[in-house]
Amino acid sequence: MKKDKEFYIQGYERVPVVFTEGKGAVLKDIDGKEYIDCFAGIAVTNVGHAHERLVNVAKEQMSKLIHTSGRFFNVPQTLLVEKLAKITPGDLKYTYLCNSGTEAVENAIKLVKKYAYSQGKAGAALIALECSFHGRLGYSLTLTGQAKYKKGFSTYANAPGVVHAPAPYPYRSKLSEEECGIEAALAVETTIERHTAGDVAAFIMEPILGEGGIIIPPDSYFKTLVGILKERDIPFILDEVQTGFGRTGKLFASEHWALTPDLMTLAKGLGGGIPIGAAIATSRIADCVESGDFFSTYGGNPVCSAVALENISIIYDEKLIDNSAKKGKIFLEGLIEMKEKKPIIGDVRGKGLMIGIELVKDQQSKTPASDEAKKIVTFLKNEGVIIGLGGIFGNVLRLQPPLCINEEQVVNVLEKIEKGINNKID
Ligand SMILES: Cc1ncc(COP(=O)(O)O)c(C=O)c1O
Repeated sequence: MKKDKEFYIQGYERVPVVFTEGKGAVLKDIDGKEYIDCFAGIAVTNVGHAHERLVNVAKEQMSKLIHTSGRFFNVPQTLLVEKLAKITPGDLKYTYLCNSGTEAVENAIKLVKKYAYSQGKAGAALIALECSFHGRLGYSLTLTGQAKYKKGFSTYANAPGVVHAPAPYPYRSKLSEEECGIEAALAVETTIERHTAGDVAAFIMEPILGEGGIIIPPDSYFKTLVGILKERDIPFILDEVQTGFGRTGKLFASEHWALTPDLMTLAKGLGGGIPIGAAIATSRIADCVESGDFFSTYGGNPVCSAVALENISIIYDEKLIDNSAKKGKIFLEGLIEMKEKKPIIGDVRGKGLMIGIELVKDQQSKTPASDEAKKIVTFLKNEGVIIGLGGIFGNVLRLQPPLCINEEQVVNVLEKIEKGINNKID
């Protein structure tokens, strides 16, 4: 850790632990201590750590061919994009492969800009949501609707044309869940009408806002939003980087609302831990691309593609989507019960194994209990449970374990969370 601090740009405060091994939903540190992993490398290792099938495919592909560049065809990349066309919703068909979630978002933005141009428009504006997270570089950072990620980056965090609409955040709204959804969707319309000249290249959102605190839009939000976008022919980008590949108890979170976006961005759970990202578009959008518009040296790398393809098969073969829904239900039931006893728990929300516990000083004022949340995360780490922390106030405990987590582990984590809350309060 000391050496890391000496040589690695510390762009983020690391948790003081050095992991050396993992299996399923368990991690082991350099001293041999074991932890139940409830963060999965930030919603990445959905099939579990060191899955034998992933290891074998990676080894096999690496021994045959590691890299040739995007200038050439290779078999795994073609099989992967064919697979993505089959499993993604609606008319999504053409994929561009890259190396991370941020790149997936950047490429999606480039695609909609070019699409607008092909339609004889400038596509000057992009609409994103407050409380969102789409990455930390270029347009993805500007689209991210949280000031804390932008401080100190001047115009780099302020790419032209981006405007934000309020997030549908029921817990922090004074309205009913349904009204909150409708109001937030209508705010998108107002944003288009008052903050743009109508020349909107796309609207982008996460179907469930992850880093922003596992914020789940009410059903009424999507019902109203989709009509507003369709009426104006504004391309809809769903950023499923964090919600994809079984995380929410469906293969994609968009399935909860039967959404059929024009573009989808994918990464994290796509590769199960190998660096890969994807932007997938309908033919209508993708048809505007001309040779020379897009290129990435590593995009479509055969090792990453082969691993991602195997990863998707494992998700189906091991019924991990079903396990995500079932174990998520056990977590939610346990946490809702805990909320009755513990006033620090303001809200419990989630779908599948994407669960947020919003901590507050008291349930009336809803003042964020950010310090307490941080202490509980540290307490749990010491107790052998790794969880995440998020939310615009840093007061949301995030449970996003590998989708193979078993019931015994879930129960163990629930007990430790309760212990952590008791320990923090006393
Ligand atoms: C919804 C969403 N989009 C984009 C990103 C950026 O992905 P990456 O860190 O792989 O660049 C993230 C990362 O947390 C994310 O949650």
